[in-house]
Amino acid sequence: MHTAHLGDLDVSRIGLGAMTMAGTYTSEGALDHDESIRTIHRALDLGVTHIDTAEIYGPFLSEELVGRAVAGRRDEVVIATKFGLVSHRPAADPAPGQIDSRPESIRAAVEGSLRRLGTDRIDLYYQHRVDPAVPIEDTAGAVAELVAEGKVLHLGLCEASPDTIRRAHAVHPVTALQTEYSLWTRDVEAEILPVLRELGIGFVPYSPLGHGLLTGQIRSVDDFADDDWRKTNPRFTGANFARNLALVDEVTAIGAEIGATPAQTALAWILTRGADIAPIPGTRRVARVEENTAADAIELTADQVARLEALEPAAGARHDDANMASIDQ
Ligand SMILES: NC(=O)c1ccc[n+]([C@@H]2O[C@H](COP(=O)([O-])OP(=O)(O)OC[C@H]3O[C@@H](n4cnc5c(N)ncnc54)[C@H](OP(=O)(O)O)[C@@H]3O)[C@@H](O)[C@H]2O)c1
Repeated sequence: MHTAHLGDLDVSRIGLGAMTMAGTYTSEGALDHDESIRTIHRALDLGVTHIDTAEIYGPFLSEELVGRAVAGRRDEVVIATKFGLVSHRPAADPAPGQIDSRPESIRAAVEGSLRRLGTDRIDLYYQHRVDPAVPIEDTAGAVAELVAEGKVLHLGLCEASPDTIRRAHAVHPVTALQTEYSLWTRDVEAEILPVLRELGIGFVPYSPLGHGLLTGQIRSVDDFADDDWRKTNPRFTGANFARNLALVDEVTAIGAEIGATPAQTALAWILTRGADIAPIPGTRRVARVEENTAADAIELTADQVARLEALEPAAGARHDDANMASIDQ
């Protein structure tokens, strides 16, 4: 497995996202925790050293599973988790919503995450969404205190704007930004990636498989369980979905030329974008982590890269209105 460099933090260039292990898209009737743990073990065996989770996944369940899986293997892996989407306000506090990056909340959050993960330090601690009620300087300062105490090793941000990134970085070095990026979501290329490169900050693409669509395995939303989050995602509905399936067909055809699956093709393309980029495809199944991790060895030709780059972006907003409103722009 090749290495990616997120600031001064080295990780396997393909990581593992542990969100669906907690049923974030859908419980599909039942979660299989043993298979989730086998998936993490298989990932480690295959050279993955970067596991991504968050307090909100479950909530708490994904961190607990990661903690169980890395017990005895803690030093083999960079654990990334996130605060700020579970409110730690006192029950009497009337403030609405879950977004909460007040310094005292971060302090409460980190203790829970350390306990669930069964560790004494979090390698990469992200703010999950920028809190409009808390200056980013205060958030970065709170994490800097945790770094000074050794509870956190590196600061990360998610879905932050260039201005927010610069302001946070001026208080404490930001090691990585995590934002959606894939063959069908390339918004970050215009403004965000240049700022990251100017400041020496790494980039962690989330949902690099387009929430599963870029794997070619999803042909109809009728196959989704009723509680599946994607059923209301603009990219999985109506005419957008039909158009996006055509995009997947093109990815599938290009990958087939070199015997790569669409998921591997989508990941291999991201890997061509730089050694400071470390995608975290998400799965809770051993066979899929094997398939995805094997993308590390796939080499696309220059012509294939050019054809993938020429694909139209996805039709439809990447999140519904409520989720888009929480993104710092
Ligand atoms: N910072 C943020 O705001 C944010 C937001 C979203 C996600 N994330 C992180 O990014 C990670 C990945 O994102 P994601 O899970 O949203 O999307 P993704 O990686 O684009 O796709 C994951 C989906 O594709 C399926 N899948 C994975 N590999 C497959 C394969 N080879 N063949 C067929 N299906 C496959 C998974 O199903 P199964 O799981 O059932 O195998 C899952 O439903 C998450 O785990 C999380 O850590 C962060």
